[in-house]
Amino acid sequence: MDFQKRHALIKEWMREAASMILASFQEELTVEVKTHRNDLVTNMDKAIELFLIKKIQQSFPSERIMGEEGFGNQFQDLKGTVWILDPIDGTLNFVKQKRNFAIMLAVYHDGIGQMGYIYDVIEKELYWGMKDQGAFCNEEKLPVVEDVSLKEGLVAINSGMFATNRYHTTEMGLASSGVRMVGSAGIETVHVASGRLAAYLSYSLCPWDIAAGKVIAEEVGLVYKKLNGEAVDLLNNNGIIVATPKAYQEILTEYLLKK
Ligand code: IPD
Ligand code: CA
Ligand code: CA
Repeated sequence: MDFQKRHALIKEWMREAASMILASFQEELTVEVKTHRNDLVTNMDKAIELFLIKKIQQSFPSERIMGEEGFGNQFQDLKGTVWILDPIDGTLNFVKQKRNFAIMLAVYHDGIGQMGYIYDVIEKELYWGMKDQGAFCNEEKLPVVEDVSLKEGLVAINSGMFATNRYHTTEMGLASSGVRMVGSAGIETVHVASGRLAAYLSYSLCPWDIAAGKVIAEEVGLVYKKLNGEAVDLLNNNGIIVATPKAYQEILTEYLLKK
């Protein structure tokens, strides 16, 4: 795989997509409800997905694309090179806060993450990782994370999961240094990768919520697993934990697997 060629293209596409989003702040958004009142899609989610799919198809016409808004291919397997795309992660934040959202794109080959990109548009921070080559924020290399314990670190937990003590996460949050919630799986994952959080947990993420963040997280020494400790499955929804190795072991054995 020609990483450098792809990297240059992806960076250019992400920046162009970000400009489209920023320009949209001057116009009225069209917001539709998907599965329930807090699951939204806007004209910009659709426009960014279509824009990125067009760019990928122009440069890599034989490769398949999995996109949240349904403009890509349907998948029964992950054979070959597959692009996984979330045009706006944190759409609810995008609509209500105009911040705390990200564009996410990943390249997988035969189910293995090769490249992951998460662009926090408002902060102008492009987090990216390449298999065995490390992870970066813009041009700065992210160090391997310090292996902090649960008690020593802040954690992000999906708000519904935390509020209902699902998987004992209220107890878990109280045992940490404190709970912080953003509402974008991508941004919460890069906070863990940057050492600002010891862990992030969510009970149900789609493949496009996971794909890019998993590449970045694993490049800085984090563990990225399903809530039962199994490997994540990018053909289905997953409850996930991304954490330092120490926090992961504690959270898994003392909370997630507890009856
Ligand atoms: C959502 C966000 C949110 C997570 C949801 C995701 P979307 O993505 O990442 O933090 O809790 O499960 O669906 O729909 O805004 O792309
Ligand atoms: Ca998402
Ligand atoms: Ca989305």
